[in-house]
Amino acid sequence: MQQILSYIDSNKDRYLSELKDFIAIPSVSSQGQHNADMQRCAEWVANQMKTIGMQNAQIMPTPGHPVVYSEWLGAPGKPTVLFYGHYDVQPVDPLNLWTSPPFEATIRGDQLFARGSADDKGQVFIHFKAIEACMKNSGSLPVNIKMLIEGEEEVGSANLDNFVEAHKELLKADLVLISDSSMFAKGVPSVCYGLRGLAYMEVEVTGPNSDLHSGSFGGSLHNPIQALAEMIASLHDKNGKITIPGFYDDVRPLSKKERDAFKKLPWSDTKYAKQWGLKQLYGEKGFTTLERLWARPTLECNGIWGGYTGEGAKTVLPAKAFAKISMRLVPDQTSAKAAKLFEKHLKKIAPRTIDIQVRALHGGEPAITPIESPGVQAAIAALQKGFGKKPLYQREGGSIPIVVQFKKLLGLDTVLLGFGLPDENAHAPNEFINLDNFFGGIRTSVHFYNELPNYWGKKGK
Ligand code: BES
Ligand code: ZN
Repeated sequence: MQQILSYIDSNKDRYLSELKDFIAIPSVSSQGQHNADMQRCAEWVANQMKTIGMQNAQIMPTPGHPVVYSEWLGAPGKPTVLFYGHYDVQPVDPLNLWTSPPFEATIRGDQLFARGSADDKGQVFIHFKAIEACMKNSGSLPVNIKMLIEGEEEVGSANLDNFVEAHKELLKADLVLISDSSMFAKGVPSVCYGLRGLAYMEVEVTGPNSDLHSGSFGGSLHNPIQALAEMIASLHDKNGKITIPGFYDDVRPLSKKERDAFKKLPWSDTKYAKQWGLKQLYGEKGFTTLERLWARPTLECNGIWGGYTGEGAKTVLPAKAFAKISMRLVPDQTSAKAAKLFEKHLKKIAPRTIDIQVRALHGGEPAITPIESPGVQAAIAALQKGFGKKPLYQREGGSIPIVVQFKKLLGLDTVLLGFGLPDENAHAPNEFINLDNFFGGIRTSVHFYNELPNYWGKKGK
């Protein structure tokens, strides 16, 4: 083990320059102009897998962007880890808010800035290097590993269910390992045991059948932007509760035990508000901030547009207005039901003065993973060794839709071993990964592979 850890130490510069190459490929899954980059990135991943000693590396097509698979199965009798990650990233706009170009990884202080640095290329790369360090120094791994790196996570993993369903035998494993979330705070390692789900909707409101002069027509008909804004405003009451009938019916109440555990975490509302430049926080009454973030559902307007938004003024009464609205969901809500309730409610509250169309874009189910599982216990031991601190248990507000599918289709529990930070600007300008977390993540991953057989033997099947 000592040899592996010193190998990691003496290869730091090479790791960073390889990560820069990975990041330089603009693999934005949601934008068609990057389709060739997606393919190129999949090839980069497959090549990297071969270089570090993974076998059977292959790029496997889907109706969307390809999946990259590889395996190392040289540890008979030891558990098999299915490592899942994603090589796709979110769009970079607004570009002018980036301090350095998003696809040129740039180190400032102890942070490496680039799109995908934390979410999720940097975290996938952590495992490439952990595997490489084991293979180079002992010629083997302490566990069997299958790697499944997809290219559509940031757009809802629409093709992955079918892929997993069609490759059940290939993906057979004992547990799933994912590094695509955050630690509780800098210097505070944690294991995540809960993710929220998502239902993502688009609303189109149509008023008159043409844009009109706002002087000649204003006052005679309902402006679709106004109608849409009125509807959106009515979706929360004065206590921050969502007003869609039935929306909370399936929400699993927080247990006293979990509420108490959340209260023990080192958290300050004042600091949090200050960090984001706010005078005051907002949210559902009766719940703490962590409860609202991790264990309560929300409804967010992600974007709203219509009419004239260009330079200067234009007196127009627009024909249409649009909004993208998403709901984060918690157990036992489902994304299909939330989408249905949303659509029904919007159609009900839509005034007769306009027409409305509601579309569901994508979704994912909320997930809770058992903290007493051997995988989670091995992760706790590994974090303790990798970061030298006792890790915490936490939930997260974000979503990784495939987690529930892994349970449903393959019967596997997931370990969420995240090395990001809550303020790493994921999906925003100036995304970064903290370098202590990056190198600590490599060490922790090696410890995880090493620890897992011990825990599996003791508490596993
Ligand atoms: N890495 C995130 C998921 C995440 C975010 C986990 C924050 C824990 C904390 C992932 O890449 C992501 O952004 N997922 C999307 C899924 C969606 C498009 C279905 C999300 O949560 O918005
Ligand atoms: Zn993401």
